Amino acid sequence: MKTSLLWTLKSPLIFLYVVDTCLEEEDLQALKESLQMSLSLLPPNALVGLITFGRMVQVHELSCEGIAKSYVFRGTKDLSSKQIQEMLGLTKPGAPAQQGRPVAPQDANIWLVCRFLQPVHRVDMNLTDLLGELQRDPWPVPQGKRPLRSTGVALSVAVGLLEGTFPNTGARVMLFIGGPPTQGPGMVVGDELKTPIRSWHDIQKDNARHLKKATKYYEAMANRSAVNGHSIDIYACALDQTGLLEMKCLSNLTGGHIVMGDSFNTSLFKQTFQRVFSKDYNGDFRMAFGGVMEVKTSRELKVCGAIGPCVSLNSKGSCVSENEMGIGGTSQWKICSLNPSTTLGVYFEVVNQHNAPVPQGGRGAVQFVTQYQHSNTQRRIRVTTIARNWADAQSQIQHIETSFDQEAAAVLMARLGVFRAESEEGPDVLRWLDRQLIRLCQKFGQFNKDDPTSFKLSESLSLYPQFMFHLRRSPFLQVFNNSPDESSYYRHHFVRQDLTQSLIMIQPILYSYSFYGPPEPVLLDSSSILPDRILLMDTFFQLVIYHGETIAQWRKAGYQEMAEYENFKQLLQAPLDDAQEILQTRFPMPRYIDTEHGGSQARFLLSKVNPSQTHNNLYAWGQETGAPILTDDVSLQVFMDHLKKLAVSSSA
Ligand SMILES: *[C@@H]1O[C@H](CO)[C@@H](O)[C@H](O)[C@H]1NC(C)=O
Ligand SMILES: *[C@@H]1O[C@H](CO)[C@@H](O)[C@H](O)[C@H]1NC(C)=O
Ligand SMILES: *[C@@H]1O[C@H](CO)[C@@H](O)[C@H](O)[C@H]1NC(C)=O
Ligand SMILES: *[C@@H]1O[C@H](CO)[C@@H](O)[C@H](O)[C@H]1NC(C)=O
Repeated sequence: MKTSLLWTLKSPLIFLYVVDTCLEEEDLQALKESLQMSLSLLPPNALVGLITFGRMVQVHELSCEGIAKSYVFRGTKDLSSKQIQEMLGLTKPGAPAQQGRPVAPQDANIWLVCRFLQPVHRVDMNLTDLLGELQRDPWPVPQGKRPLRSTGVALSVAVGLLEGTFPNTGARVMLFIGGPPTQGPGMVVGDELKTPIRSWHDIQKDNARHLKKATKYYEAMANRSAVNGHSIDIYACALDQTGLLEMKCLSNLTGGHIVMGDSFNTSLFKQTFQRVFSKDYNGDFRMAFGGVMEVKTSRELKVCGAIGPCVSLNSKGSCVSENEMGIGGTSQWKICSLNPSTTLGVYFEVVNQHNAPVPQGGRGAVQFVTQYQHSNTQRRIRVTTIARNWADAQSQIQHIETSFDQEAAAVLMARLGVFRAESEEGPDVLRWLDRQLIRLCQKFGQFNKDDPTSFKLSESLSLYPQFMFHLRRSPFLQVFNNSPDESSYYRHHFVRQDLTQSLIMIQPILYSYSFYGPPEPVLLDSSSILPDRILLMDTFFQLVIYHGETIAQWRKAGYQEMAEYENFKQLLQAPLDDAQEILQTRFPMPRYIDTEHGGSQARFLLSKVNPSQTHNNLYAWGQETGAPILTDDVSLQVFMDHLKKLAVSSSA
């Protein structure tokens, strides 16, 4: 692998805060403090702006001259980008040119927008005051009603403001919401509390009134934002749903973050938000903008598509496959915002196998050319070239087998599955995954026809079926027990994390702590739950500490406080320390759950482990459809038995 870098200079970073003021007092207070704190984390020359909204939308003028002014928009009226720019006075003639020197469009823009987007170092005191003085939306909320939240118009003003002033410049719109949009374009639910926000059930019954319209509204806005290279983050903190399902493409298409929590006054939100501004050892943000990734291939390969936080640049060259996988039909993708862990899955196909076999001893090559604006404003280009030996799929199958990366394969298949799940019915996606798995087992398994007991997979493939088993049960493909917002949230993070984090999401990690030895990883299986053990489970989104029955009794009896049971105290502490390490680094910060045998939160653990001891026999391969499908809650053993049967079957 070979990588090289180049750079040139570019403009400052831009942060536009868009803040919901229909929050509970406690939430608003906590959010204000977090926003004030964030000003100290921005680079001094970054431009910052503030839009607040409730029933109305306010764009705040930031000046150092002592006049606090804001422009007010009605929350019910959809405005075009041009109208917004006119109302904000952004379309006046440009700044006077300096003598003898033409004004670059960007200089002129800085002059025009300076009232709304100001360098942090000039306005941080004033903005801190302004944030401190923010009040809850003053419009009264009658009994039985939701507050009127103009999220749609607020976003449209934010996107229009940036579009008119800084097209093709690294910018982040940061949206903070404490409830769903309830009026105007993009509304997700009406203001009557007796009408609940849509559930999966409503969606399946085609009974979600605002879903299509709202989704389309936000998608159009996401498209515009992506064209301009602006990224949109959503920080949604509320106990109920906030409309992430409808709004997710804002972040999905622009490389923005989605963070979901119960309240702004939680360490989950506060720490996660702080981590958005984390810096590397050079003191630079771990945040880049304006990314473009191009893929080039040697003749025998074509690129089918990419899955991740990107949009197509519709660049159709000779290396683009007809066969689309993910976001296809192009060899270039735009990534409006990225960080060091942003990961795209890229899919290829081998062409010309039959009429022009690949040359013996030849190599296939792929080149990734990635450009982006580094947070220190340099423009960088990274070129990575990889080459692999060709192997013949018939005569050299063992070469393919030994170099098979089952972890990468599982994650790439999972991304495809999640991508499909966004537009297809759940059972269809599971059937598709099953078919792929069976085909893999038929091709690489060793067996005698029609003898399932003879079936074997080599070491390099042996874990793969287990990954698929856990994937089928995961919240990425199973929507029941989760709200539509939660499903969107989980999927959003799944399609952008690196291999290690993705694997944790597919198959959570379980550690055991006991008196019988040092902490050790154990099987994600119900047999691992024992009375005298503490378990720590990491699902990426949650960290669960589960105390077995005996441990829980001892803890309740307070043994840890007695000097003679110091070792018990240490045993209780060990998983807490390990959890702390994960809590301190992960983005977004996981939810932390401390539970025990019989505790109501134990369901987080019980829903993840392989139900090896429940002896259910509810499986039904292909009973109705004739295609293989398992019902959801069979054990790994049952799953494997049926997989073997199907793989060795001469009629399959
Ligand atoms: C936030 O939560 C903490 C701890 O629960 C509490 O002490 C504090 O008062 C809360 N903040 C606000 C603004 O209510
Ligand atoms: C901004 O800060 C300056 C100096 O602290 C102060 O004189 C001015 O009134 C402030 N302006 C606003 C809009 O608060
Ligand atoms: C957004 O862009 C995609 C790709 O160009 C297009 O297919 C889609 O229709 C657009 N959506 C809206 C609502 O404009
Ligand atoms: C992200 O957006 C693309 C393009 O609209 C869509 O196909 C994909 O399913 C979305 N992914 C997620 C996880 O929402």
